[in-house]
Amino acid sequence: MNQHARLDERPIPFIDLGAQRRRLGQAIDDAVARVMGHCQFVQGPEVRTFEADLAAFCGARHAIGCASGTDALLLVLLAWGIGRGDAVICPSFTYHATAEMVVLLGATPIIADVRADTFNLDPQSCERAVATAKKCGLKPKAIIPVDLFGLPADHDAIAAIAAAHGLLVLDDAAQSFGASYRGRKLGTLATATATSFFPAKPLGCYGDGGAVFTDDDALAARIKSLRVHGEGADKYEATRIGITGRLDTIQAAVLIEKLKIFPDEIASRNRIAQRYAEGLGGVVTVPHVGNETTSVWAQYTIRLAPGRRDGLEAALKAQGIPTAIYYAKPLHRQPAYRDFPVADGGVPVSERLAEEVISLPMHAYLDPALQDRIIGAVRHALAR
Ligand SMILES: Cc1ncc(COP(=O)(O)O)c(C=O)c1O
Repeated sequence: MNQHARLDERPIPFIDLGAQRRRLGQAIDDAVARVMGHCQFVQGPEVRTFEADLAAFCGARHAIGCASGTDALLLVLLAWGIGRGDAVICPSFTYHATAEMVVLLGATPIIADVRADTFNLDPQSCERAVATAKKCGLKPKAIIPVDLFGLPADHDAIAAIAAAHGLLVLDDAAQSFGASYRGRKLGTLATATATSFFPAKPLGCYGDGGAVFTDDDALAARIKSLRVHGEGADKYEATRIGITGRLDTIQAAVLIEKLKIFPDEIASRNRIAQRYAEGLGGVVTVPHVGNETTSVWAQYTIRLAPGRRDGLEAALKAQGIPTAIYYAKPLHRQPAYRDFPVADGGVPVSERLAEEVISLPMHAYLDPALQDRIIGAVRHALAR
């Protein structure tokens, strides 16, 4: 068996956390050991260091670590006092956690459509969703654009709609921390931004974690209080109803090390995305990244002609190539969300994308030989 044949038989993980673990090895072990040494497992010094590193990385005035991306969304909505009678506009084509905390707080998500080229919130549908909310007798309060699969939404267009209607913008950057839009990094583009450090995210920890970013001092102070049971100047004074929403010290220690190699990993993800685009551009619809945005490629999601997806999925599976479908059920078709209002005009693009998209393996350690195997397998399956 020659060298290439042997290389070709290596398993292909969808996301290879092990490869990153091997690269970071001792640095992470040492960082965790330091926490074990000082025993400040909650709100230890690593949390403050990581928050400062994060804020410096993206240019936000405040970065506030918290227990998950979902808690990051919840803390902002709580701080804004979103509740019953309020409407919050969310895209349909997203992971359903985007809208979950809106519902938990008693507010109503108004489900808007996305653009076919970026998969992100369509400003025109967002505008129509404001009118839909009013027709339903609700008070439009906020927009939650999502930067899906690592790519920023059209933040200037969304900010203009928000300004015209007096709405707040909470950017759901759970999949896209590190990406930029018109020269600014996510974390600085909305009134507040939430991200997730779930292990599979471009910047992930070894468990659950998240962060909120904002330039608003008063909002940051409220969120810091809310994440520790609404504490006041004294931690045994409850000034508001909050949650236990802190980032663990061990996770912060892991993230400090991971953030150091994050720019290099983003560059690698972009090289891999470029190679996919070159190899697959003529065969499928590859992701579109405009001149003014950069992506961190949380997913590499292609679009196929109607009816081709099942065949491709099966052909790749037969060759040991994993794929995933994000999202076969957009928000408006999820059992827990299907009774919420959809923006006037409907969500036809989200409907279509749910039938046509498929995500290929993507991580910073996907080497050219494995990637060429994936590209070859996709081309071969679709040529049939
Ligand atoms: C778009 C989006 N929003 C929110 C979340 C929630 O993040 P977490 O799992 O850290 O709570 C996720 C996580 O997958 C997500 O993809």
